[in-house]
Amino acid sequence: MSRLHRKKEHVEFALKTPQSTVGNGFSDIYLVYEALPELNLEQVDTSLDFLNKKLKAPLLINAMTGGHPEVKYINRSLARVAARAGIAMAIGSQTAGLEDSKVRDTYRVARDENPDGILLANVSALSSPDMVKEAIEMIEADGVQLHLNVAQELAMAEGDRNFRGTLANIQKIVSLSKVPVIIKEVGFGLSRETIKKIYDVGVRYIDVSGQGGTDFIRIEYLRSGRDYREKFQNVGISTAISLVESLSMDLPIVVVASGGFTGESDVACALALGAKLVGMAGHFLRIVTEGSEQCLNERVDIIIEDLRHTMLMVGAANLRELTEKPLVITGKTAEWLLRRGIDIDRYSYLRQAGKR
Ligand code: FNR
Repeated sequence: MSRLHRKKEHVEFALKTPQSTVGNGFSDIYLVYEALPELNLEQVDTSLDFLNKKLKAPLLINAMTGGHPEVKYINRSLARVAARAGIAMAIGSQTAGLEDSKVRDTYRVARDENPDGILLANVSALSSPDMVKEAIEMIEADGVQLHLNVAQELAMAEGDRNFRGTLANIQKIVSLSKVPVIIKEVGFGLSRETIKKIYDVGVRYIDVSGQGGTDFIRIEYLRSGRDYREKFQNVGISTAISLVESLSMDLPIVVVASGGFTGESDVACALALGAKLVGMAGHFLRIVTEGSEQCLNERVDIIIEDLRHTMLMVGAANLRELTEKPLVITGKTAEWLLRRGIDIDRYSYLRQAGKR
């Protein structure tokens, strides 16, 4: 199976595969309603600074595709939507483009359509520093995502089996990269233990990409025609848990929340907990491929408007104020976090200025 063909199949099988049935944990998290917000909706501002640029809203179209002529239109549409809405975007793993110059345009299209926007490169954390440099230059990236995807590789018949040396490689890349390096998972989450290791080698940006949305174990089993039967469900870390685990460490890191977001009040909850951006992949892919670019424009506008309404309902005029509002963590998520020794009551009352 060539890498080129795999890129096309990932999109096809992601669309055929239902989202994970376990949930991303945000149904356990509640914002506390404020019936006296003393705000005018016109004042509610979702803008922020990220990687030395301005975003109109704290959203990221997360890494998905590129590397096959038939997926170029997806990156073109996603980039146009990102440019129009003023949100960030990452492209899919660029290894195919590094190996074959003929498919580079399927990635480059994202920069051509959005010359001034925030665009993130994406390669495996096992890539050489030279490959990372080339991937950044290919799209004039503002930052580079290095993905960790052990669970996916093991599920992939042709996947990697040796993950030794990844941390040392990340350290080398961080020391040489001219743009910020963001370590991300692809749907199984990052634990406190993992985050401590990557922080210690110099990483300051992470994307937890937790369990509860796109399920790559399932996609890989279906892609190779093997029986799946809900395997490994007890190993992944939900997005909500992974987000709180990462923030509870009080490290000076920027945290992106992704994994299973569908643009409902889960977005506001993640931002209130302290995520800088909320990333969505599978949800946006479905809308742009099964609907159209226009459908995605409309969906993104609704998500941003719903976020503004939620902010007003809790009395937050901007994203910093949102991180000061009380929220309550319940259920399985609370139980997990308590058993891991994390103080969840710190979120339950009006908080001091957030750590955004
Ligand atoms: C992905 N994802 C991904 N991530 C990455 O770092 N490099 C990649 O090349 C890809 N490719 C890819 C293809 C497709 C079709 C999908 C749907 C996803 C993972 C993605 O960025 C994200 O981390 C997970 O999908 C979890 O988010 P959602 O989909 O639950 O919002």
